Amino acid sequence: MLTGGPGSYRDVISQESFLADYRKALSRRGRVTVVGSSNTDLVLTSATLPGPGQTVLAGPLRVHAGGKGANQAVAAVRAGARVSFVASIGRDAYGDQSVERLRREGIQLDAIHRPSNATSGVALILVDAVGQNMISVARGSNDALPASLVRRALGALVPPHVLVLQLEIPMPAVAAALTIAERAGIPAILNPAPARSLPPALLRKVHTLIPNETELAFLTGARSTSNAAIERAALTLARKGVGQVIVTCGARGVCWARNDLVLWTPALKSRVVDTTGAGDCFTGCFAAAMAAGLPTREAIEFAVRAAGISVERKGAQPSMPTLKEILARR
Ligand code: RIB
Repeated sequence: MLTGGPGSYRDVISQESFLADYRKALSRRGRVTVVGSSNTDLVLTSATLPGPGQTVLAGPLRVHAGGKGANQAVAAVRAGARVSFVASIGRDAYGDQSVERLRREGIQLDAIHRPSNATSGVALILVDAVGQNMISVARGSNDALPASLVRRALGALVPPHVLVLQLEIPMPAVAAALTIAERAGIPAILNPAPARSLPPALLRKVHTLIPNETELAFLTGARSTSNAAIERAALTLARKGVGQVIVTCGARGVCWARNDLVLWTPALKSRVVDTTGAGDCFTGCFAAAMAAGLPTREAIEFAVRAAGISVERKGAQPSMPTLKEILARR
């Protein structure tokens, strides 16, 4: 096993040379399709997160665009990709605002289902003074995404293209997307959030699985969060037939496992105010970089920078950095 400790990648390639590579590769604007959720986030910030049965006082209510799928689509488009979004968004005021915001980002919305009998998704988010969060989601119209729409929307996809999925939508829609991607030879990135059971047959269709530590523990039963335990659990998943596993570990960085190789990429030193959407930022930017043809190691480095910027800002979609911001960050 080859283990790269924090800093190892920066040791071999100078910042300037990989920034030049990013610029060149990302100017190609790869194609990314995101199949996933859209929510409106109702956010309260307090000094500490409440425990069960506890009431805490919070600052003013903030309302942001969110939803893991929509967040990842916004991250990818701001990072330079051409992005299509396949989703089910209710015909209510929150839903209309979400669709309008995504349109203004320049995301292709031809395959958006607008059911009139379901309210759009809403997430209640609590954030504490050090930027940690707790999230509870009412899926609403996200739960009405038909597998038939996903099949229609993805039917004509041809490589080069990258597909991105998460688990806030019905499992038949996820399964339909993974099956089409496999047949078409399109790499599928799955962010298994929120954590749900995944049949081995579906896992084997995934090119890149991007869990956080909690999701990794759910999928593997790993109890410890030590670096060694994360490496073992990621390798176990990779050996189950997933192409590669990239575990996002917050301030500790990112652990990439493929075959028998494990490589850590350190996180940026960020002034954290809100970690909401950081995993989505990583996933969307990784997809954009992969679609532009960057090798996995460089795509991870690019996405780590982006996520390190996003945690310095409030909200999910509002915190996603632009390509210019990502490349300018030292
Ligand atoms: O990953 C953060 C997202 O999770 C929030 O935007 C919220 O809507 C939930 O989907």
